[in-house]
Amino acid sequence: MARVFVTRRLPGQALERLSAAHQIEVWEERLPPSPEQLADKAARAEGLLTLLTDKLDAPLIAGAPKLRAISNYAVGFDNVDLEAASERGIPVGNTPDVLTEATADLAFALLLAAARKLPEAIESAREGDWVTWEPALHLGAAVHGATLGIVGLGRIGRAVAKRAEGFEMTVLHTSPSGGEPLEALLERADFVSLHCPLTDATHHLIDAAALARMRPTAFLINTARGPIVEQQALHRALLEGSIAGAALDVTDPEPLPPGDPLLQAPNLIITPHIGSATQAARERMAELAVENLLAALDGKPMPHQAN
Ligand code: DGY
Repeated sequence: MARVFVTRRLPGQALERLSAAHQIEVWEERLPPSPEQLADKAARAEGLLTLLTDKLDAPLIAGAPKLRAISNYAVGFDNVDLEAASERGIPVGNTPDVLTEATADLAFALLLAAARKLPEAIESAREGDWVTWEPALHLGAAVHGATLGIVGLGRIGRAVAKRAEGFEMTVLHTSPSGGEPLEALLERADFVSLHCPLTDATHHLIDAAALARMRPTAFLINTARGPIVEQQALHRALLEGSIAGAALDVTDPEPLPPGDPLLQAPNLIITPHIGSATQAARERMAELAVENLLAALDGKPMPHQAN
């Protein structure tokens, strides 16, 4: 039996399987453990089951001498220092595939909501501002037949492209393995949707220069990772109207602190990182995360290993 620290209770029954095999401690709070609390738990653990809000950096890994498996409850693993884990021979697991469709659905929902001004239309109906049918009220942008630019054509990017086919959109993409140059995609797209992982190369990929290339009628959708977008530049672009709008499911930091100017920016939808938030996807993620951990603690390769 290995000692395992789980940084949050997960949907479904998967943790029961883990606790049947190992001695597990679950962090029961709503907020994540502080870096110090996480380091303290990690120092005594052989296995960690972590969320994207838990930063597993080199000092934390160095301070966890017994650690032999990290299982991240996410497809992304930018919260884990992969190099530090690999140097110690610690496998790092992630949860791909099972959240692809849910995240693509949310990206498309945000795209539609931004284009068709859903937040303001819903608010106006709720607030009694729907006094009659008006020809020019809440006019949005057409999605059908528009051009979608997908940045990062991995599993989720491809799933978004499939949805776009149903809307008879022209789909452009850019990724390290091909497609359009990013600049050309930004200049042509009516909607730019981000689906690349957060790496040194994609940090602030969408900066002031990138935003300046977008059309004044275009929308930016981010369901990937907050730091891919330079938020001050986005704030300026929205204030100046140099793009038509944006929808962010991810921000930097998460959540944005109260008073962050982005929270008041015009034509901006923000949702609280709910891309994979369906009951089915979150339960399947828990199963994969537990399978990864069980395998590694048993000395076997993880079914989904990031390093
Ligand atoms: C992930 O898995 O990386 C998402 O951001 C959360 O499900």
